[in-house]
Amino acid sequence: MKHFLSLKDFSKNEILEIITLAQQIKKDFKNNIPTPLMPQKILAMIFEKNSTRTRVSFESGIYQLGGVGLFLSSNDIQLSRGEPIKDTARVISSMVDMIMIRTFEHSRLEEFASYSSVPVINGLSDSYHPVQLLADYLTMLECGISLEGEKPIATYIGDGNNMAHSWLMLASKLGFDLRIATPKGYEVDSEILSLALSFAKESGASILTTHNPKEAIEGCNVVTTDTWISMGQESEKEKKIKAFEGFEVNEELMSLAQSNAIFLHCLPAYRGYEVSEGVLEGAQSRVFLEAENRLHAQKGIMVYLHQQKERKC
Ligand code: CP
Ligand code: NVA
Repeated sequence: MKHFLSLKDFSKNEILEIITLAQQIKKDFKNNIPTPLMPQKILAMIFEKNSTRTRVSFESGIYQLGGVGLFLSSNDIQLSRGEPIKDTARVISSMVDMIMIRTFEHSRLEEFASYSSVPVINGLSDSYHPVQLLADYLTMLECGISLEGEKPIATYIGDGNNMAHSWLMLASKLGFDLRIATPKGYEVDSEILSLALSFAKESGASILTTHNPKEAIEGCNVVTTDTWISMGQESEKEKKIKAFEGFEVNEELMSLAQSNAIFLHCLPAYRGYEVSEGVLEGAQSRVFLEAENRLHAQKGIMVYLHQQKERKC
């Protein structure tokens, strides 16, 4: 059974198939045409971390598809009192049609999925945030940045975290160029980088990692960043703020990208840290279109997984 845990498990064609579904569903949504593609299906949403966008987009998304969402904060279910993940997975999956989970270690998600009898979606783990990246790619396409014609260059500046890893997977699977600039000591995970380099050989993507944000941003088409302090890292705040000096995406840095480059950020954004107020609110920023696209991209993912499951039955 197909889960959606990381883009590493999906081919280019499968990713594009989900994007096409998302585009069709978005078009209907904008034209007020209902898309009841998952009638009476139940999506359980387990959150072990906070969320605004992921929660609202999944809950609204499943409702608009004709189903219903169950919001399960880990504080309110037995998981936080020590019920094993493998028991939770077997119980919840026996009662619902699909499960989204936001958690810490990626291995926790993999364990959950291995015990689940229904498709599981990664709503963010410490290693990956794949649902976000499909919204990001949908946004790129809507801004005229595609794989047709000259290969786009995306630049990620900041922490070598779950977002950086997810950009690595998207670029290396689809075949566009990616540059990642991180401070020393905050590089991307070396195993994930190796995996991306192996996918890149096949797709023709070129991947550059550096400690120099100016080198990374020069002439690129998409600039992106993420918080320096991911959920669960609050105790490292002071240390990281010092280490990330010079890595703020501000007007000066942004001026080195293509003049029509777009700025993306998964949000929430911390102005004055990873991004300046001017860039976030500026003419090149597409962050609120990107956030809106979470709704449409995730409807595409849910419908894709549902169709896969129905085909197998
Ligand atoms: N980008 C994102 O996942 O936002 P939330 O943490 O608000 O869900
Ligand atoms: N890297 C951030 C992303 C938040 C959407 C985190 O994991 O907290």
